[in-house]
Amino acid sequence: FFDGHADIWLFGYGSLIWKADFDYLERRPAAITGWARRFWQGSHDHRGTPEAPGRVATLIRAEGAVCHGMAYRITPEVLAPLDVREKNGYLREKVTLTFLDEAGNPDADQAPSEGLIYLASEDNPAFLGDAPLADIAQQIAQAHGPSGPNSAYLLNLAQALRELGTEDAHIFALEEQLQRYQ
Ligand code: BEZ
Repeated sequence: FFDGHADIWLFGYGSLIWKADFDYLERRPAAITGWARRFWQGSHDHRGTPEAPGRVATLIRAEGAVCHGMAYRITPEVLAPLDVREKNGYLREKVTLTFLDEAGNPDADQAPSEGLIYLASEDNPAFLGDAPLADIAQQIAQAHGPSGPNSAYLLNLAQALRELGTEDAHIFALEEQLQRYQ
């Protein structure tokens, strides 16, 4: 996939922003263009159950959209266990990463780099897709799975994005809606 590269930048836009349980060489805030974060992927094994699936973030193509996250520089060996962990319908895609400075703006001193994302596309069986925001928030408020409450995933993500100094209208609107169901 990344022939000839000694190491790889993996871009995290969901739980990887605040939780990376693999060895990495370096991590930096980064952004990708043309992708938007959405709570459109069902989770029946981490943040929900088969009877009451939760929802987690995936990326959809969106012309002109900018998605902020955290990039991890890893050795290729780190990908093998990740591929196993993320195999539930997740695909790999190549992206171009723009690194960000401490204020969350593109870092003029750092050239863009090729990167890798894992995303759940609409053709995987767990994909749920769009729904009214209130319905998504209610589903998240009610779902619990082996990794914990679905609401903690959303709240952690919103908090991690604030710490990155970025805005994400979909995530912050869901966070606000969640309060109505708690
Ligand atoms: C992410 O944060 O980028 C991510 C986490 C789990 C599965 C796929 C992507």
